[in-house]
Amino acid sequence: MKLNWAELLVVNNPLRVFEQRFEIGWMKKHARIPPGGSFLEIGCGRGAGASIIREEFSPECICATDLDPMMMRRAVRYLPGEERRGIHFCAADALRLPLPDGAFDAVFGFGVLHHIPDWQGALSEIARVLKQGGTYFLEELYPTLYQNFITRHILLHPEENRFGALDLKEALKGADLSVQASLEVPFVGILAVLEKKS
Ligand SMILES: C[S@@+](CC[C@H](N)C(=O)[O-])C[C@H]1O[C@@H](n2cnc3c(N)ncnc32)[C@H](O)[C@@H]1O
Repeated sequence: MKLNWAELLVVNNPLRVFEQRFEIGWMKKHARIPPGGSFLEIGCGRGAGASIIREEFSPECICATDLDPMMMRRAVRYLPGEERRGIHFCAADALRLPLPDGAFDAVFGFGVLHHIPDWQGALSEIARVLKQGGTYFLEELYPTLYQNFITRHILLHPEENRFGALDLKEALKGADLSVQASLEVPFVGILAVLEKKS
């Protein structure tokens, strides 16, 4: 689901960049990923995360995807010329990634799953495109934050098939993604580093 005006404000501002720097720094501390390798980001928005991922992990290339082609255009404006080196932007639905099985050493998703009605389907796609032993870096929010009595009137999210902490952990296990490290704020959200087992 595309973002409404309020959510566009939430993600396209300097505070969000600061928050993602902290989160990606935390993820790096909890993952063993050698430099090089192929990375994927789903729901990359305007590309601020992809740029920080490149700085922190030095992958060979990052494929940064988003459902919304407008976000891809924003990303090209946000990361001009050299700042885009090694980052390939492409519009794609996380439910149907036009990418081969086992192609990536790491997949990143910041605040994306809770925008997808069939978020379990997106988890299967993530597991499909990850190599065995590959890493999934996740940042997610719970409906108690984004669909409470105030936020439900401002933000726009799917209403059906929402997930809380337990549903998410169960679905991750079902997709063969095992938690290596997590940082959770109850009723708010979670950061996690997961490994694809088989
Ligand atoms: C809350 S924004 C997060 C953007 C960016 N990752 C960040 O953290 O600032 C969620 C993003 O997911 C994208 N999105 C929503 N549904 C999607 C889907 N099915 N496949 C891929 N991207 C999707 C939206 O267009 C939006 O850019």
